Amino acid sequence: MNIIEVKNVYKSFNIGKEKIDILKNVNLDVNKGEFISIMGPSGCGKSTFLYLLGGMDKPSGGNIIMDGKDYGDMKEKEKGVIRRRKLGFVFQFYNLVQNLNVEDNILLPLLLDGKKPDSYKKKLDKILDMIHMSTRRRHTPRELSGGQEQRVAVARTLIFDPEIILADEPTGNLDSKSGKEIMNLFRIINSEMGKTIVQVTHSDEYAKYGTRIINLKDGTIQS
Ligand SMILES: Nc1ncnc2c1ncn2[C@@H]1O[C@H](COP(=O)(O)OP(=O)(O)OP(=O)(O)O)[C@@H](O)[C@H]1O
Ligand SMILES: [Mg+2]
Repeated sequence: MNIIEVKNVYKSFNIGKEKIDILKNVNLDVNKGEFISIMGPSGCGKSTFLYLLGGMDKPSGGNIIMDGKDYGDMKEKEKGVIRRRKLGFVFQFYNLVQNLNVEDNILLPLLLDGKKPDSYKKKLDKILDMIHMSTRRRHTPRELSGGQEQRVAVARTLIFDPEIILADEPTGNLDSKSGKEIMNLFRIINSEMGKTIVQVTHSDEYAKYGTRIINLKDGTIQS
C-alpha cells in the first residue's frame, strides 16, 4: 500500500525575474513501512521535495497524495492536523525549544494539539528510555550534546505515534558516533515500530540504513 504518492510533480521558484525549475516531473510511490534515503547534490531540491511531502509547500504542478488524499484538495487546517498527528519532522539543527526541558520538548506537540499530557506519562517514560535520556529528562537543550538534542527531537516526533517521519539531514550536524546512534534509532523506529521514514542525507553510509535509496539530480529522480 502506498502511503505517499507523488505524481508528475513540478516545482519552480521565481528568483528575480527568472523562473527556475527545481523539480521536473518527479514521480514516487512510498510504500507503508519503507525507509527511503534521498540523496543528491546541494541545491538539487531535496529539502524542497521533503517540504512538499509534508504539505508545507505546494507543487507548481502535479499531485501529492498523502494516505489516499490529495494535499491539493485539503484546506490548510486539514493539512495542519496531518502535520501534527500523522507526520513527524526532524531537522538538521534539532529545533528544540531552548527554555523547555527534555520532557516538555517531547510533550510540546500534545500541547499544541490541545491534548492533556497527563495521560501520556507512560508513553513519555517509554520514549525517554528508548532514546537513553531518562536520567536527563529535566535538562534543557543547552546542557545537552548535539547527538542528545537530536535524540530528543526524534523522541518529540514519536509522542503522537506518527505514521511517517520526514527528516532533513538529521545527521548533518553530528559527529559519526552520534550520527550512527540516530541512524540506529531510525532503524528501530522503522523495523520494530513500523513507521515509514523518508530522510535526506549526504552520507553514503547513512543512506544505506534505508530500505531504498533515491538519487535526485537535475530536477528528476535518476535512480
Ligand atoms: N522559497 C524559495 N524561493 C526561492 N528559491 C528557493 C526557495 N527554496 C529553495 N529555493 C531554491 O531551490 C533550490 C533547491 O533548494 P533546496 O533547499 O531544496 O536544495 P537541497 O537539495 O536541499 O540542497 P542542500 O543539500 O544544500 O540542502 C536552490 O537553488 C534554492 O536556492
Ligand atoms: Mg536541503
